[in-house]
Amino acid sequence: MKMSDKENISFDEFDEMNNPRPEECEFDRVVESAISRRGFLGVVAMGTAGFTASAAFPNFARAAADRFGFEQIEASVADTVTVPPGFNATPMVNWGDPLWSDSPKFDWSVRGTAEQQAKAFGDNNDGMSIFTIDGKTVLVINHEYTNRDVANAHRESKLPETDDDVLKGMLAHGHTVAELAEIDGRWTIVKDSPLNRRITPQTPMELTGPAAGHDLVKTAADPTGTNLIGTWNHCANGETPWGTYLTCEENFNGYFRSSDPDIEISADKKRYGVGAKDWGYAWAQIDERFDISKHPNECNRAGYVVEIDPSDPTSTPKKRSALGRFKHENAELVINRDGHVVVYLGDDERGEFLYRYVSNGVYSVGGPTDDLLDDGKLYAAKFDEDGTGKWLELSEEATGMSAAEISIFSRMAGSKVGATTMDRPEWVASHPKKAEVYCALTNNKNRGIKPNKGGDETPVGGPNPRKGNKYGQIVRWMPEGGDHTADNFAWNLFVLAGNPAVHSDDRKGSSNVNAGNMFNSPDGISFDNNGILWIQTDGNYSNEEDFAGQGNNQMLAADTETGEIRRFLVGPISCEITGLSFSPDRRTMFVGVQHPGEKGKPSHWPGGGDSVPRSGVVAVRRDDGGVIG
Ligand code: FEO
Ligand code: CA
Ligand code: CA
Repeated sequence: MKMSDKENISFDEFDEMNNPRPEECEFDRVVESAISRRGFLGVVAMGTAGFTASAAFPNFARAAADRFGFEQIEASVADTVTVPPGFNATPMVNWGDPLWSDSPKFDWSVRGTAEQQAKAFGDNNDGMSIFTIDGKTVLVINHEYTNRDVANAHRESKLPETDDDVLKGMLAHGHTVAELAEIDGRWTIVKDSPLNRRITPQTPMELTGPAAGHDLVKTAADPTGTNLIGTWNHCANGETPWGTYLTCEENFNGYFRSSDPDIEISADKKRYGVGAKDWGYAWAQIDERFDISKHPNECNRAGYVVEIDPSDPTSTPKKRSALGRFKHENAELVINRDGHVVVYLGDDERGEFLYRYVSNGVYSVGGPTDDLLDDGKLYAAKFDEDGTGKWLELSEEATGMSAAEISIFSRMAGSKVGATTMDRPEWVASHPKKAEVYCALTNNKNRGIKPNKGGDETPVGGPNPRKGNKYGQIVRWMPEGGDHTADNFAWNLFVLAGNPAVHSDDRKGSSNVNAGNMFNSPDGISFDNNGILWIQTDGNYSNEEDFAGQGNNQMLAADTETGEIRRFLVGPISCEITGLSFSPDRRTMFVGVQHPGEKGKPSHWPGGGDSVPRSGVVAVRRDDGGVIG
């Protein structure tokens, strides 16, 4: 979610006026060196003893078999989901759809009530996974936030006004767990399945790991510091091999406010963006714990990765504090070859860090798993200019902080060890067939202009090579010796997004970006079983000026061996494309459409006519019913 981004576009414009880029800029030199140091599409060979990068791989212009299986589509500003010839996309479930046969029908004239929302699919779906549980296909999906102006369109303020408006919004957050069935070739929610569940900001949770029970997480209602209520603003997700879902609390700060306007905001709250005003959700109006002047520790109980067991609708979700507290994007879990659980984690804020968790114990099929995400080490990444990098352990010795403090104030721990400030780390995706990991760095208008919220400088260079970065890039790294627990890695840039139709300087993008496939702001990234990297965008959809010709947000496919990128899907007006999963038979790809119609942009997806725009999931299939990914 990029609320603050879009509110401050003038900052970039201001910068552009005052710091014009040179006509003939250093971009080609700087970027091509970052890209091609190891060969743009290079394979880096690393021995276990030494750490030597191989000679450059042949460049990506080499002939390669077409691994995509579709024809690229053009950019589009249509209010629909567009896919290539030979494919179809059908809405499967949308905001407000009932999960039980006794769910009250949504009254769209008022965008529903709290009672209706409590038993219906939530708003603004984001990351999702498909599980097979006792032979049943089960969807678990995040509901990141609400389109306040859509959900409250009947109110003059376009914001929640009554307590029921506020509660409706609150209950539109959280998760839907729902059984799916394919009936006459069409996927649908199975109403009344015993596995169906809504998880909301009111669902009991348990805090586990180093932060559990610490004074910083104790509140008047919970003197144990372990019994939490609710989870909210989940961006993306992850999955464990033991059948659980990982969900990531991102912009948790925007829900807190202060009834005391003169409250002094502490440095740790400032680092996490917790302040005296909320972002329009007004939750403190109905639940006092969101008032930081009365309950200053409540905000320390959010910002974690949460583990959910979808097989048991009565299970208590666990907030795994060992994975750190920040604006979590996703949780890419890899079982290293020696059994250690490695989780790669991005902190989506300008100038914040990229993290790695390594379990102390090892995973074995059927073995105990409950400690694997509680007992381990947390690291932050440092990228060096020479194409190598290092994971810096956030240890008590290195940070001068206790284990609990490192878990609760991970950003400060990262600052203390000198981790690299990044251009908003979004999803991380690990290649399914080799030790190679990718992270989308979506954009960063402050790069080279302003420090992060902790005062760490954000110099131009390394994997963040452009000042005032408007378009974003994808960095990848190769762990030394193919070992995800190794502290050293080599890195290069897979793509720099840009607009070569408008710019010839550092904003044109890397050489695998052209007028036909260009995009901005990569966010969701995920590999399919064939090793194709899917890229979803949450960027500027104005289709004007710097973004002319890029159209609505979209999903592209990338061949990471050849570098080729092709546009596969374009979403409706003012949406973001986010969330990707596959049916067990791999014949259906589920793709999320989030916030169509935001900020007053007139989308009526999926209903058309004058209907209310509704986030949802589309099922994408081949017309011939073939395997899709
Ligand atoms: Fe919720 Fe970082 O996107
Ligand atoms: Ca986003
Ligand atoms: Ca995202």
